[in-house]
Amino acid sequence: MSAYTAVILAAGQGTRMRSRKPKVLHDLCGRSLIEWTLVAAREAGCTKLIVVDAPERPLDGLLGDDVELVVQPQADGTAGAVAAALASLPAGSPVVILSGDVPLISAETIRELVSVHEDTGAAATVATALLEDPSGYGRVVRRADGTLEKIVETKTEGDATAEELLITEVNSGVYVFDPAALTEALPAVGTDNSQGERYLPAVLPLIEAAGGTVAVHSVDDPSMLLGANDRVDLAELRDLAQMQIIEAHLLSGVDIVAPASTQIDIDVEIGTDSVIEPFTALCGATKIGERSTIGPDSTLTDATIGDDVTVLRSHLTECEVRSQASIGPFSHLRPGSLVRERAKVGAFVELKNSDIGEGAKVPHLSYVGDAEVGAGANLGAGTITANYDGVNKHRTVFGERVNGGVHVSYIAPVEVGDDSWTAAGSVITEAVPPGSLAIGRGRQENKDGYDARRKREAEDKK
Ligand code: UD1
Ligand code: CA
Repeated sequence: MSAYTAVILAAGQGTRMRSRKPKVLHDLCGRSLIEWTLVAAREAGCTKLIVVDAPERPLDGLLGDDVELVVQPQADGTAGAVAAALASLPAGSPVVILSGDVPLISAETIRELVSVHEDTGAAATVATALLEDPSGYGRVVRRADGTLEKIVETKTEGDATAEELLITEVNSGVYVFDPAALTEALPAVGTDNSQGERYLPAVLPLIEAAGGTVAVHSVDDPSMLLGANDRVDLAELRDLAQMQIIEAHLLSGVDIVAPASTQIDIDVEIGTDSVIEPFTALCGATKIGERSTIGPDSTLTDATIGDDVTVLRSHLTECEVRSQASIGPFSHLRPGSLVRERAKVGAFVELKNSDIGEGAKVPHLSYVGDAEVGAGANLGAGTITANYDGVNKHRTVFGERVNGGVHVSYIAPVEVGDDSWTAAGSVITEAVPPGSLAIGRGRQENKDGYDARRKREAEDKK
């Protein structure tokens, strides 16, 4: 297969999305719509990538260094979008046109289409699919001999006849063109249609009239070609993409107990024999090792989890949990947290930017922020690091095997030495030497006969 360029159309207004955000930047399982298409184009081996952006260039800087952005001066239709890319097309090699809102197209389908285009010697090749519900898509009108006569639009009334509306073969919006034939025919595409736009499919009959062949390649799996025009389409695409992602994990040896209530983003990695319990969302670049159990009811975003870890009903963001550690239920690990091997972060614990040493325990009801907790330390229920003085954040450093009492506040910056102890209810404001016990609280005083005295005083007042 020879070198070819891919042009991704992404300058439309996306009105049907009813969003302030460009349509192609909407998220589909952890990647923007246009990123899906870009990944497929790269994987398919295209040698040049061009994206057509709107005049405000909302995609600038978001798509990777290998992408050349060109601008369509006004959203006057898909033919106008392609026209904006013409000057950047290398002469001679075929050009694949893709839509920034058709995300599930596979690299294989793109390559297949290019092969058909080259094998048939066509000047233009269009990918089509049979859809049960073709509403909104352009319909493929074929002649009696099967060749393409034209494509009629159905987004708005007036372009297609009642008979044409019965056609279920749709234009996918994915094409391959010979750049010379395209460049020659494109200027003649007019705006004489119900939307007053320059429709790209109108170039096909023009290419044929100029003597070129137009090939039609129908794709077996229509999900490849589904477009996201509104949020209903997006929800359908999400169902499909999510099912594909989950199936791939199931087939690679991950146990997903309730696929319908599990959300897994495209870039997530999960090791063999890990179990994902119901109502769990694994987002972003989350990585999970082998034999770990995640969930139920957990959300992990950009988290790195080792082997044999348990995460139960917890929320983890940009943090790392190493082998055999356990988290939860009901804990919150915030960015910069590292829970080392065999450590335990129990119920109702919030960690932020803290390093929990090997085998250390923060078992209950605690806030540990900007802290280092040495190996084998055990911090009592209600441990609080007072890490913030209103201006700066300060560190609390617990040595190895510290035995923290319950309900202790550590006023940072402060160091608590190896093998030291802190008494229940203490407020620790000064360094605790290794091996010592720190008691930082008022002494208890008992007032004898207090209750009787109160009652007597009350009697006297009567
Ligand atoms: C288009 C096709 C339709 C096909 C469908 C497949 C046309 C006229 N119709 O319809 O035959 O069945 O795709 O999904 O081409 N865009 C621009 N500039 C513009 C207009 C659109 O860059 O001026 C971009 C959009 O951002 C989008 C793509 O082109 O990524 C398709 O545009 P859209 O308006 O979604 O076309 P459809 O109505 O879906
Ligand atoms: Ca579309």
